[in-house]
Amino acid sequence: MTLPAPPVAVVGLGQLGGSLAAALAAAGRPVTGWDVDPAACEAAAARGVRVARELEGVVVLAVPLPAMASALDDLTVAPDATITDLGSVKRPVLDTVGARYGSRFVGGHPMCGTERSGFAAVDPALFAGARWAVCLDEGTELPRWLRVAELALAVGAEVVPVTSDEHDAAVAAVSHVPHLLAAALAAGAAEAGPLALALAAGSFRDGTRVAGSDPAFVTAMVDGNAGPVAAALDRVRGQLDRPWPELVAAGHAVKAATDRRRPVRVPLERSALLELGRAGGAVTRRLAAFLEGWIPE
Ligand SMILES: NC(=O)c1ccc[n+]([C@@H]2O[C@H](COP(=O)([O-])OP(=O)(O)OC[C@H]3O[C@@H](n4cnc5c(N)ncnc54)[C@H](O)[C@@H]3O)[C@@H](O)[C@H]2O)c1
Repeated sequence: MTLPAPPVAVVGLGQLGGSLAAALAAAGRPVTGWDVDPAACEAAAARGVRVARELEGVVVLAVPLPAMASALDDLTVAPDATITDLGSVKRPVLDTVGARYGSRFVGGHPMCGTERSGFAAVDPALFAGARWAVCLDEGTELPRWLRVAELALAVGAEVVPVTSDEHDAAVAAVSHVPHLLAAALAAGAAEAGPLALALAAGSFRDGTRVAGSDPAFVTAMVDGNAGPVAAALDRVRGQLDRPWPELVAAGHAVKAATDRRRPVRVPLERSALLELGRAGGAVTRRLAAFLEGWIPE
């Protein structure tokens, strides 16, 4: 039996939250939204989002990391609502929002977004084809996990089941360290002088794109995940010490690997779902008591 899709309420209508609310509204789902910035509320209302402080169904926290713990303080949250978030680091949110809402909380992190921020950066297609980590921690209730996973699937994302700590270690390597490396590349090139910056082209632009992100956003992200980021940075430092031909060949091999996928069916069960995530796979669809997805070949 399929339950009707629950209503969704998004708190924080900037790039991520505004894009989610707009995508759901465009798909005909009832969406409520709230933001402390009236201009963000107005922009969301123009896309079909109902602006309100009373939240029910799946409540999505899409505010900056430092605001997560208090964002619901002055809002009315239905007693049976499922709370999730889009924060780039999961452990601090689990320790604050998770501690407050217990098993009603399911952490999440869509792996998309750009260096732009605010409601002017809203893009309803942002989540299409993106991986979306949905956390299965010790106390997570499976039916609530599924509700959040179905929200991610509804906007075209693929769901990666993961624990909060495994998520933080993984994204340190593929997201947080790249932000630091982009900053280091940009600062290093500036030291080389104006001639170097004048000659900068594609590889510099690609390698430094995320250095254009809001510094407060990047700082909150790396500081909030300091241990895993330091460990991942050490691994990169180790790579830089290798002989250059060896390093170049190793990096090329990673980028050249095929991304062939094998379809799988996974029972709706915690350990099987986490195993899928650890194997590098993702969920693409719900089929009765099974979830359909893929793992790398
Ligand atoms: N930008 C990215 O690439 C990206 C990717 C994945 C996840 N995230 C995460 O998503 C979350 C939002 O990021 P974003 O890029 O959309 O930021 P953003 O700056 O574009 O939007 C944040 C919005 O939250 C609002 N806000 C701030 N405090 C609030 C409060 N107390 N109550 C209600 N609204 C409040 C702001 O007015 C703003 O409109 C962050 O936690 C971030 O870690 C960002």
